[in-house]
Amino acid sequence: MKAHVLENSFGIENISLREREVADLDSHEIRIAMKAVSLNFRDYLMVTGNYNPKLKLPMVPLSDGAGEVVAVGKSVTRFKVGDRVMPTFSQNWIAKRPVSDDLRKSTLGGPLDGTACEIMQVPEWAAVEIPEGLSYAEAATLPCAALTAWSSLVTMNQAKPGEYVVVLGTGGVSIFALQFAKMLGCKVIATSSSDDKLKKAEELGADYVINYKEKPDWAKEVRKITKMQGADHIIEVGGAGTLEQSIRAVRMDGVINLIGILAGSSKELNLLPILMQNVRMQGILVGGREAFEDMCRAVTANGLKPAIDKTFGFAELQDSIRYLKSGSHFGKVVVEVG
Ligand SMILES: NC(=O)c1ccc[n+]([C@@H]2O[C@H](COP(=O)([O-])OP(=O)(O)OC[C@H]3O[C@@H](n4cnc5c(N)ncnc54)[C@H](OP(=O)(O)O)[C@@H]3O)[C@@H](O)[C@H]2O)c1
Repeated sequence: MKAHVLENSFGIENISLREREVADLDSHEIRIAMKAVSLNFRDYLMVTGNYNPKLKLPMVPLSDGAGEVVAVGKSVTRFKVGDRVMPTFSQNWIAKRPVSDDLRKSTLGGPLDGTACEIMQVPEWAAVEIPEGLSYAEAATLPCAALTAWSSLVTMNQAKPGEYVVVLGTGGVSIFALQFAKMLGCKVIATSSSDDKLKKAEELGADYVINYKEKPDWAKEVRKITKMQGADHIIEVGGAGTLEQSIRAVRMDGVINLIGILAGSSKELNLLPILMQNVRMQGILVGGREAFEDMCRAVTANGLKPAIDKTFGFAELQDSIRYLKSGSHFGKVVVEVG
């Protein structure tokens, strides 16, 4: 089988397509013929050595994908041949809330080999059935970005109808957050550097839009929209470069979900407004399998369709990562396998 392998040094150009042997199947494992994989910003960071410079190489990149079960070990009971599945992001994280640091050691696409391959073998507890009605390409977008958005709005906080949710930018996590927030009956304020992308966000249900390039002080706009109260939930994917605005945009006792570092990871910050406004700062780390299963049920029940921006061929993985890094996409970038 073929797999993309990040060879002995970091860099997108150091990923090569290699022939690899398929290992014998352990009794508790399932073998998946991968059909599609999707990209997250983390994959770019991982491949370039910016996520974990001590990461052991060689490694198969990417954490997200979907495929068909083609063989099962003799003690497997959760799946059978022919089932359509997605491997979980953190292979040993089952419970809804994180319980130990160890779960970070079992994540795909670093430190474990990831999904950018034709055949994957995972323990039966580390995969979830694809929601009805989704293609393999659509399902491949769910394990990390969608679950992170779900954890922010449902597992770790309970967003309620009528509450205001601000999503920063139009990348994978933020667009899923927009879709889940609408599903939950919330009002969504979407921000972007591009008016064209803001139009697309409106088509997906965003109630208000703000161009953060034209209005760098976008928190003021959020306060105006919310009649000076501030938003209930902020999907904070920018990090150090956007946190100050997020703190100004959140309402008294609202929550800022600290998810990403697209605009930097450290900066001096005035903490006073956090105490004075009783703001909750919630770090978010993707989510576990039980939360993923909850989310998949909600996806089916609501007929949610992931927003796929562009699909690349299997041989074009390097190009797909460069495209993601360019920030031209709206929602998710997918690579078809085979
Ligand atoms: N904690 C976790 O468990 C977890 C899980 C998933 C992702 N993440 C992190 O979350 C972040 C987002 O991941 P992703 O995969 O969704 O990324 P992505 O798809 O690559 O998102 C890219 C988009 O982010 C927006 N953006 C960039 N800089 C911005 C800024 N200063 N203000 C507002 N928006 C900005 C841009 O949107 P526009 O083009 O519309 O301006 C850009 O197109 C990354 O840092 C990633 O590492 C964390």
